[in-house]
Amino acid sequence: MRRVTNLYRSSVGKKVLMAVTGVIFILFVVGHMYGNLKAFYGPDVFNHYAEFLREMGSPLFMHGQLLWIIRIALLVAVFFHVVPAIQLWLKGNKARPVKYARRLEIEETTIGARTQRWGGVLLFFFVIIHLLHLTIGSLHPDFVPGDAYNNLVVGFQETPVAIGYIVVMGALCLHLYHGVWSSMQTLGISHPRFNRYRRPIAVIVAAVVFFGFITAPVGVMAGILVLN
Ligand code: HEM
Repeated sequence: MRRVTNLYRSSVGKKVLMAVTGVIFILFVVGHMYGNLKAFYGPDVFNHYAEFLREMGSPLFMHGQLLWIIRIALLVAVFFHVVPAIQLWLKGNKARPVKYARRLEIEETTIGARTQRWGGVLLFFFVIIHLLHLTIGSLHPDFVPGDAYNNLVVGFQETPVAIGYIVVMGALCLHLYHGVWSSMQTLGISHPRFNRYRRPIAVIVAAVVFFGFITAPVGVMAGILVLN
């Protein structure tokens, strides 16, 4: 146990924890993005899919139970992704209270790396607003419980909301790009033989997630996703 706490206390341990929880989020966003694409098959398919999420694990689990277990696991993952990030951020500031007069731009300093922290903060607040918008419905103009398709289409019929989602998906894409790239290094997939694949893999994951997610707001704005 002491080994685990000692590892957590070190910067490397915090980075490993962030990388592992980051992989959990990547799996979640890829699955979520894939599920959203079902909206293009129409309201029945999409609502059936939303209902499946609640029925998952039946008959072993009661209605919604497995979904709640996944939600709680994701919340725990958020905690262990955000807390070490803040601790590393504070540690970095403490180690260098006076800012560099000029930053040396090394290869690793991509736009994704430079915006990683603020991108993370933005995503944190996005998820809260997003849940109030499309899951709880308190930020939605006409939320119908159990009609996920209606909520999605009506939600994006407000063009500024649809554009806001697209902009945040851009930030998510940058965060994912740098996250995938750096987590491969943290988790030890950093070897001269693999290094040349790290950047293309990060680009592919980020691009697939970005284009997959924006299909819903773009689909509504283009009149492809409509209410029946
Ligand atoms: C354009 C992008 C997105 C669209 C169109 C979208 C759409 C939706 C919809 C329709 C729901 C409600 C599903 C239901 O009631 O069954 C939902 C739930 C949710 N979304 Fe998204 N989403 C997007 C991006 C994201 C991103 C980037 C994240 C996280 C980083 C995220 C996290 C969640 C979570 C945590 C839930 C709640 C799931 C639950 O506990 O039931 N979404 N989303």
